[in-house]
Amino acid sequence: MSDPAVRTVDLVKQYEGGRIHALNGVSVDVARGEFFCIMGPSGSGKSTFLHLVGALDRPTSGEVWLNGRSLSSERDLDTVRAWEVGFIFQLHNLLPALTSAENVEIPMVVSKLRRRERRRRAEELLESVGLSHRRDAVAAKLSGGERQRVAIARALANSPGLILADEPTGDVDSKTGEQIMETLLAVRRQVAATLIVVTHNPRVARDADRVMEMLDGRLRSSGQL
Ligand SMILES: Nc1ncnc2c1ncn2[C@@H]1O[C@H](COP(=O)(O)OP(=O)(O)O)[C@@H](O)[C@H]1O
Ligand SMILES: [Mg+2]
Repeated sequence: MSDPAVRTVDLVKQYEGGRIHALNGVSVDVARGEFFCIMGPSGSGKSTFLHLVGALDRPTSGEVWLNGRSLSSERDLDTVRAWEVGFIFQLHNLLPALTSAENVEIPMVVSKLRRRERRRRAEELLESVGLSHRRDAVAAKLSGGERQRVAIARALANSPGLILADEPTGDVDSKTGEQIMETLLAVRRQVAATLIVVTHNPRVARDADRVMEMLDGRLRSSGQL
């Protein structure tokens, strides 16, 4: 059997010298190509979990394995992150003065692609999220839904095997949220990536292969479905 895309083993994360217990021992496997959904109340540790899985931060104890490789023995998490993980945050954090295409090109600076190839790839990605017509618009002029679709295109720039989305439909109306999720699911089918989504949206959870609930820093089977 092949290694899971993500394996966490007894993941613990504390902040402020142990005063805050964000994760209290999370062990879970996410299969390659799985759409895994995490729900749960605010402050329960969902974002912390995504940050550790996405190599944005290191755990207090426990381990994260990506495709059978332990992150604790990786010195250079920046490289892992740049090549293997695509992030979509709630507040999309695009650079407002840059155009859609320029924003999508940002992660490609680590690649060996030349400028023209980067631009071509950015245009392809924008097309895949239905935003070709907005490629030269600066991010500041885009609607919330458009920005989030640019953020999806940007997350896919280096063809990551793992896409992590932290409440991607959190700050838009429900119709826009649906468009964002449709976009995300469509691109996931195209690239066959593993998808972990944190959401409060039951519509999103219905589409998932598996839903779990984070509560007080522990992941448990969801009773919501
Ligand atoms: N960088 C940080 N420093 C201190 N405490 C943090 C930090 N990040 C998160 N926390 C705390 O850890 C707990 C879990 O937070 P978080 O993972 O953001 O939860 P969620 O995403 O489920 O809302 C909360 O109590 C939060 O205040
Ligand atoms: Mg959060």
